[in-house]
Order: sequence, then C-alpha cells, then structure tokens
Amino acid sequence: MQNLFETKTRYPSFEEILKEYSEEANNYQPKEGNVFGFWMQTLADIQFLDLELSGMTKDYKIDAINHKVYFNNDYENIRKRIAHLDIVDSKPTLYSNIIDLFGDTNAYAFHNLYPYKGKFYPRIVRTIINSFNLKNGDLILDPYNGCGTTTHEAALMCIDSIGIDINPIGNIIAELKNELLFLKEKDFELNINDLITIFNYLENKKRTHKNEIMFKLFLMLYFDTKDAFTRTTRYNKKGERSLFIEKFNYIKDCYIKIKQFLKEWDIDYKKATVKEGNVLDLKSSGIDDESIDAIITSPPYYFSLDYVGKDKIAYDYLNEIGFFNHNMQDVKNEYLGMKVGTDIPGKRLLEKKVITYFRDLEKSIQEMVRVLKPNGKIAVVIGDSTLNGKKLPTTQRTYEFCLKYGLKHIRTVFNPLLGVRNRAIRGESILLFNGYMHNKSEQL
Ligand SMILES: C[S@@+](CC[C@H](N)C(=O)[O-])C[C@H]1O[C@@H](n2cnc3c(N)ncnc32)[C@H](O)[C@@H]1O
Repeated sequence: MQNLFETKTRYPSFEEILKEYSEEANNYQPKEGNVFGFWMQTLADIQFLDLELSGMTKDYKIDAINHKVYFNNDYENIRKRIAHLDIVDSKPTLYSNIIDLFGDTNAYAFHNLYPYKGKFYPRIVRTIINSFNLKNGDLILDPYNGCGTTTHEAALMCIDSIGIDINPIGNIIAELKNELLFLKEKDFELNINDLITIFNYLENKKRTHKNEIMFKLFLMLYFDTKDAFTRTTRYNKKGERSLFIEKFNYIKDCYIKIKQFLKEWDIDYKKATVKEGNVLDLKSSGIDDESIDAIITSPPYYFSLDYVGKDKIAYDYLNEIGFFNHNMQDVKNEYLGMKVGTDIPGKRLLEKKVITYFRDLEKSIQEMVRVLKPNGKIAVVIGDSTLNGKKLPTTQRTYEFCLKYGLKHIRTVFNPLLGVRNRAIRGESILLFNGYMHNKSEQL
C-alpha cells in the first residue's frame, strides 16, 4: 500500500501530513464496547508484574484481587531481581529494600543525579531486563541512552551495557552514574566552607578538582543549580550556594547508601560503556553486526520543543572553559525530532521536521536490527505526541518499522503517565520484540 509519504512526484502539504497522521492514529483507538480509562495505573502494574515473571519462571499465577502471586521455585533469583514484588518467600525483595533505603520507587541509586528531560523510569528498565531474562554475560545496548537510565540499571543488575547518545550533556551524566561509586569516601568529605569555595571557583570558571569525575560532578551540580533559578523563584530565599550544597549532600547520601546496598546484597556493579554517537551510524561507535543480546531504548518523541537549547548554560560554559567543543546547533542538526532533512525541497520547516523524524526513526530501527544478535530482543518505549492538536501515530509507526525489519512482536504494554498536566502525552507504550533465528542478510 502506498501512502502519502511515498509519493515520489509531489511532497504533501503540511495540512495533508497532519490530516493523514491523525486519521491513521484514529484507526487504532478502540471505539466500541466498554473501554478502560487510560489512568488505570494498577492495571499496567499488573501487566508489568506478569511481564517480569514470564521471563523469570514458569507456572506462576497472579491473584490481583488479593495482591498475591504463586510460584513454586526460583525464589532467590526472583527475590533479587523483580521490580514489582515486595515480599518473596516471606522475605523482602532487593527492590523493596532499595526503594525503602532511598524512599522512592524511581529515584534510587544515582538515577536522580540530574533532571534530564524525558528520562526512563528505572523500574520499567528493570522490568524489561527481567522479561528478557538477561543475565551476567549478556550485553545490553541503549542507542538513545540519554542520562543513562538503562546503563545504570543494567550495572546495578550486574549486566554489561553500552550507552550511546548524541547529547554530550546526557553522556556526562551517564558517565557520572557509572564512575561516582568508584570514588573514595574521603572525596565526599567536604564541609560547607569547602563547598562555598568550590561554588565560587565555578562562578569564576576555574577548575575545582584534578580528579575528572569530581570536577564533572561539581559542574553538573552547578548547572543544575543555575538552571533551577532560571525556572522558578522558589529557591530565591535559599540562595544559589545553599541549593548547591543541598544538591551535593544529596549525592553524597546516595553514594553512602549505594555502597551499603551493594555490599549487603553482594552485587558486583558492572560499569557500562558510555559513548557519544549517532543512532543512525552505530558502526562509527564501534558496534558490530550481531553483537548485542538486547536493546532497551526510548527514542525522542516528536516535539517542537528545543531539548538541546535547554542546556544552553552548560554548553556555553563547557565550551568557554575548553572542557569540550560542541556547537549546540550541530547537536540539533542530528537530534531526532529537531533535525530538518536537507533533501526535502520547498516545504515549511515543520513539515520537513515531521518527515525527517519518521524517516530517521525507521533508519534507527534498521540500525538496531543490524547490531542485534539473531534471536536477540528489543524493547522500545515510545509515546504519541500531539502537534497542532493532531496526534502523531509514532507508536504504530515504530511497531510497523520493527516488523518491516524482521522482528517478531512479543507483547505491548501501555503505561499511563499520571499526574502530568500536559496531556499531549497520555502515556507510553513498551513494545517488545524478538529477533529472528535465520540469516538476517537475506531479510534486510
Ligand atoms: C527519550 S530520550 C531517552 C532518555 C533515556 N532513556 C534516559 O533515561 O535518559 C531520547 C534521547 O535520544 C537522544 N537522541 C536524539 N537524537 C539522537 C541521535 N541521532 N543519536 C543518538 N541519540 C539521539 C537524545 O539526546 C535523548 O537523550
């Protein structure tokens, strides 16, 4: 079937593009019978529990009404890995232990190091790792790794991983999550005066530490502090230095808690490999054909927001002190959803952006399939954003691209995003696929 975007002779108008996309989206909405509200979070959680268990044990039974699960074996493995059970075999699970320690189901370990836009819920990453039954010895890739939720969660589960992202700021955060644990306790022994001196050094664009990791940590805490003051007046009374000190003490507290947690549970934290790179060319990042056991990833949703520009303070600062050399516009030119194809003549900017976005999304799936081992697994977390009041069927398109490049659909779980005021995104889907057994080159 040929669609609007495959028309060779004429590019569609912007209005035609939106009409086509929104009509396509409508086809996938259930219209008859009784339909669950999208806010039924509990239902999604039961589905996630089922997903996890399906990868970890056989013959289990979920009794949703009584909040109980029945299975007869694999207790120890499940207790150490599962993200949706509190008690296994009458003992607390590792997950309930870590969230009790940090007081949050998602902001545990270093996951909350920096407020990176559009980051994953670590619990979902853990759920996917379990549903794929990945273990020590396997290799996970996230080619849209952002601030490194996949790589950090894999590391906490003793599994090797590689994270690639185009955004150098995301990569600094992902690297920090990897490296902070290996600093010495005495590196964190800083009093208020030390921290004020460090802040003043940063204000004057002077290097604070010889140690690269400590310096990176303070840079990110400094940018986070500065950014907070541009966004809200809430901290005006507190002042920049106090907020900076608070942020450092939070990270120090995380460091102490993770160390304690890893020791108690005898976890061998597996440092990830974090690289700057483009999802459309994973070869340049050194990822060979058929080298990856599983991909867990979330492409950018289509937004007209400027996610790169959000970090302008950091880019300007890091360029000025010679820490890196990145032109923000160069990053935008490669960033899915912001990139504008140069080979689409005579159309308005938004039209070009939408066409480029879907074209690159497809290419990125093709590239992921190239690097996946036969019989490897892929999970894509994706949502449908709204543009000028029209919904873009990004989820459906992603699903079709995956099938086109030979993946086998296992299951989809819809996760409602509650409490989000902006209803442009009502939730996200977790699309799960299996690679195929036979020769890929015949299929591509
Ligand atoms: C939805 S976010 C993923 C966030 C990530 N899951 C996390 O937890 O931080 C999408 C990511 O795709 C990255 N990205 C956009 N275009 C890219 C490209 N061409 N190659 C690699 N990464 C890209 C963005 O920088 C952003 O970090």
